[in-house]
Amino acid sequence: MTWREYHEATKHSVESLRLTGRVLDWANMPDPFRHYEGVPVLDLSADPPAPDMPVLDVLQGAFGTTPVGDGLAFLSQLLFYSAAISASKRVPSTGYNYALRVNPSSGNLHPTEFHFLTRGLKSWPDGWYHYDPSRHMAEQRGRGDFEMKPPGGPAPIVFVLTSIVWREAWKYGERAYRYCLHDIGHAWQALALSARAIGCDSFAFGHFPDDEVALLCRPNMDEWPMLIVSLHGKCIPVREADTAKAVWLGGQANQLSKETIAHPLIDGIHFATKRSGSGSSHTSFAELAQTGSGEITLPSPASSTRSFGEVARMRRSALDFLGGKQSMSLAELSAILAVTAQPLLADFAGTRFIQLYLYAHRVDGLKPGVYRFWPERAELEQLKSGDQRVAAAGLSLGQDLAGNACVTFSMIGDLDRAAGTYGDRGYRYVHFEAGAIGHRLYLAAEALGLGATGIGAFYDDEVHRHLNLTPNHGQVVYHFAIGYPVLDPRVAASNDPQEITW
Ligand SMILES: Cc1cc2nc3c(=O)[nH]c(=O)nc-3n(C[C@H](O)[C@H](O)[C@H](O)COP(=O)(O)O)c2cc1C
Repeated sequence: MTWREYHEATKHSVESLRLTGRVLDWANMPDPFRHYEGVPVLDLSADPPAPDMPVLDVLQGAFGTTPVGDGLAFLSQLLFYSAAISASKRVPSTGYNYALRVNPSSGNLHPTEFHFLTRGLKSWPDGWYHYDPSRHMAEQRGRGDFEMKPPGGPAPIVFVLTSIVWREAWKYGERAYRYCLHDIGHAWQALALSARAIGCDSFAFGHFPDDEVALLCRPNMDEWPMLIVSLHGKCIPVREADTAKAVWLGGQANQLSKETIAHPLIDGIHFATKRSGSGSSHTSFAELAQTGSGEITLPSPASSTRSFGEVARMRRSALDFLGGKQSMSLAELSAILAVTAQPLLADFAGTRFIQLYLYAHRVDGLKPGVYRFWPERAELEQLKSGDQRVAAAGLSLGQDLAGNACVTFSMIGDLDRAAGTYGDRGYRYVHFEAGAIGHRLYLAAEALGLGATGIGAFYDDEVHRHLNLTPNHGQVVYHFAIGYPVLDPRVAASNDPQEITW
């Protein structure tokens, strides 16, 4: 299987949806929480201090200066603002409560798990850990000085983000691999921005030998390592590393479902995008992204004083948007687009593969139509004029929110260029980048008092037709909508985890 075969086979069309006719087996729904039982559990302090730097500044690359005393406080704060539970939602018909987290996830199924290795963190034992968001605790899977030479050199904290693809495949079938990759992109930015808001930097590595990394952090068989994120910087409270011999504790992973259904296309694309340690995998010089210009120069970006801590935990996906007359300003759109143009710190992000196409519905000073964003010059190029609301909703599998938003996006990924540079592995990177941009869009929208929703469901080839894309423009990989959210009375949010019941 090649990336192209997988991508073509998992495109939505009216016909493919009719043939699929999926019925969800609720009794077999995977548990959204992984636990490694039988190992020591280290409690992370509840309700750590909130990073108070304005979120738009963090998104523009500024560093926060939240004082952190020791490793425990550091990890608690880092994870509370990147991966913890932040709200609950009540299903009126059953009275059942379920948890929502700081990082979004398609279908709220949360395929991403956070594993991390610490070495020389002050008042925190060196070892391998798995973060359990259901309790805001760290499960100690190994103790002592573990040999891991992260690609960028030693670091006091190294995360390995894994995907449990079955969680998504249960609902979305073979297309689920795409959503897991997006979710990794979101989780990566949630982590990187939380680190930055505290005051330290991070770098992500996508280019690693999968099986070797799996041997180091030993996730359960159903978890696949997808991204390594190492943290560094003076604000991380450090001491000398332990010299104690490494002891593996492991723990027993909980079973997520009674039964796991096989998805051969997912196995195929995962195998195709794996790298081996032999270095045989393809990597060549990255061709630069296309540049261009447009006739509309964006104004200075709007500002916001809302803090990172508040916005990260209040972020929610809108179920729908108010579709009336209220519009957003061009300065707000400018601020939202500006944060997508900031550099992404990763070994696969030297050149960008995603280009943003906008369906402008209600933006002051921008006629309804389709536009292409040129980030280098902060310009918009108009490609189509006229009302796009029906088109945007229709292309997003008939989801009203894409028409009721003020602006909807198609992220067009240059999958061929990525594959030309990184081989099939490039397929992952384009989706990571899309998820990362999506995460930045969520936070910027929230900072400005708007709402946002990632949209993984769209009619692929219909989008290409509507946008008049030729194969050298790329293919649609993610949709996104921003507008005035319809408030959801079922959501209960609190900064105090004790008050959230689910
Ligand atoms: C990759 C991705 C795809 C998504 N696709 C859709 C979608 O097609 N339609 C929709 O209404 N929400 C979509 N969402 C939003 C999720 O349903 C939402 O993140 C999840 O329910 C958790 O809610 P929260 O974001 O408020 O934490 C998507 C989110 C992500 C990250």
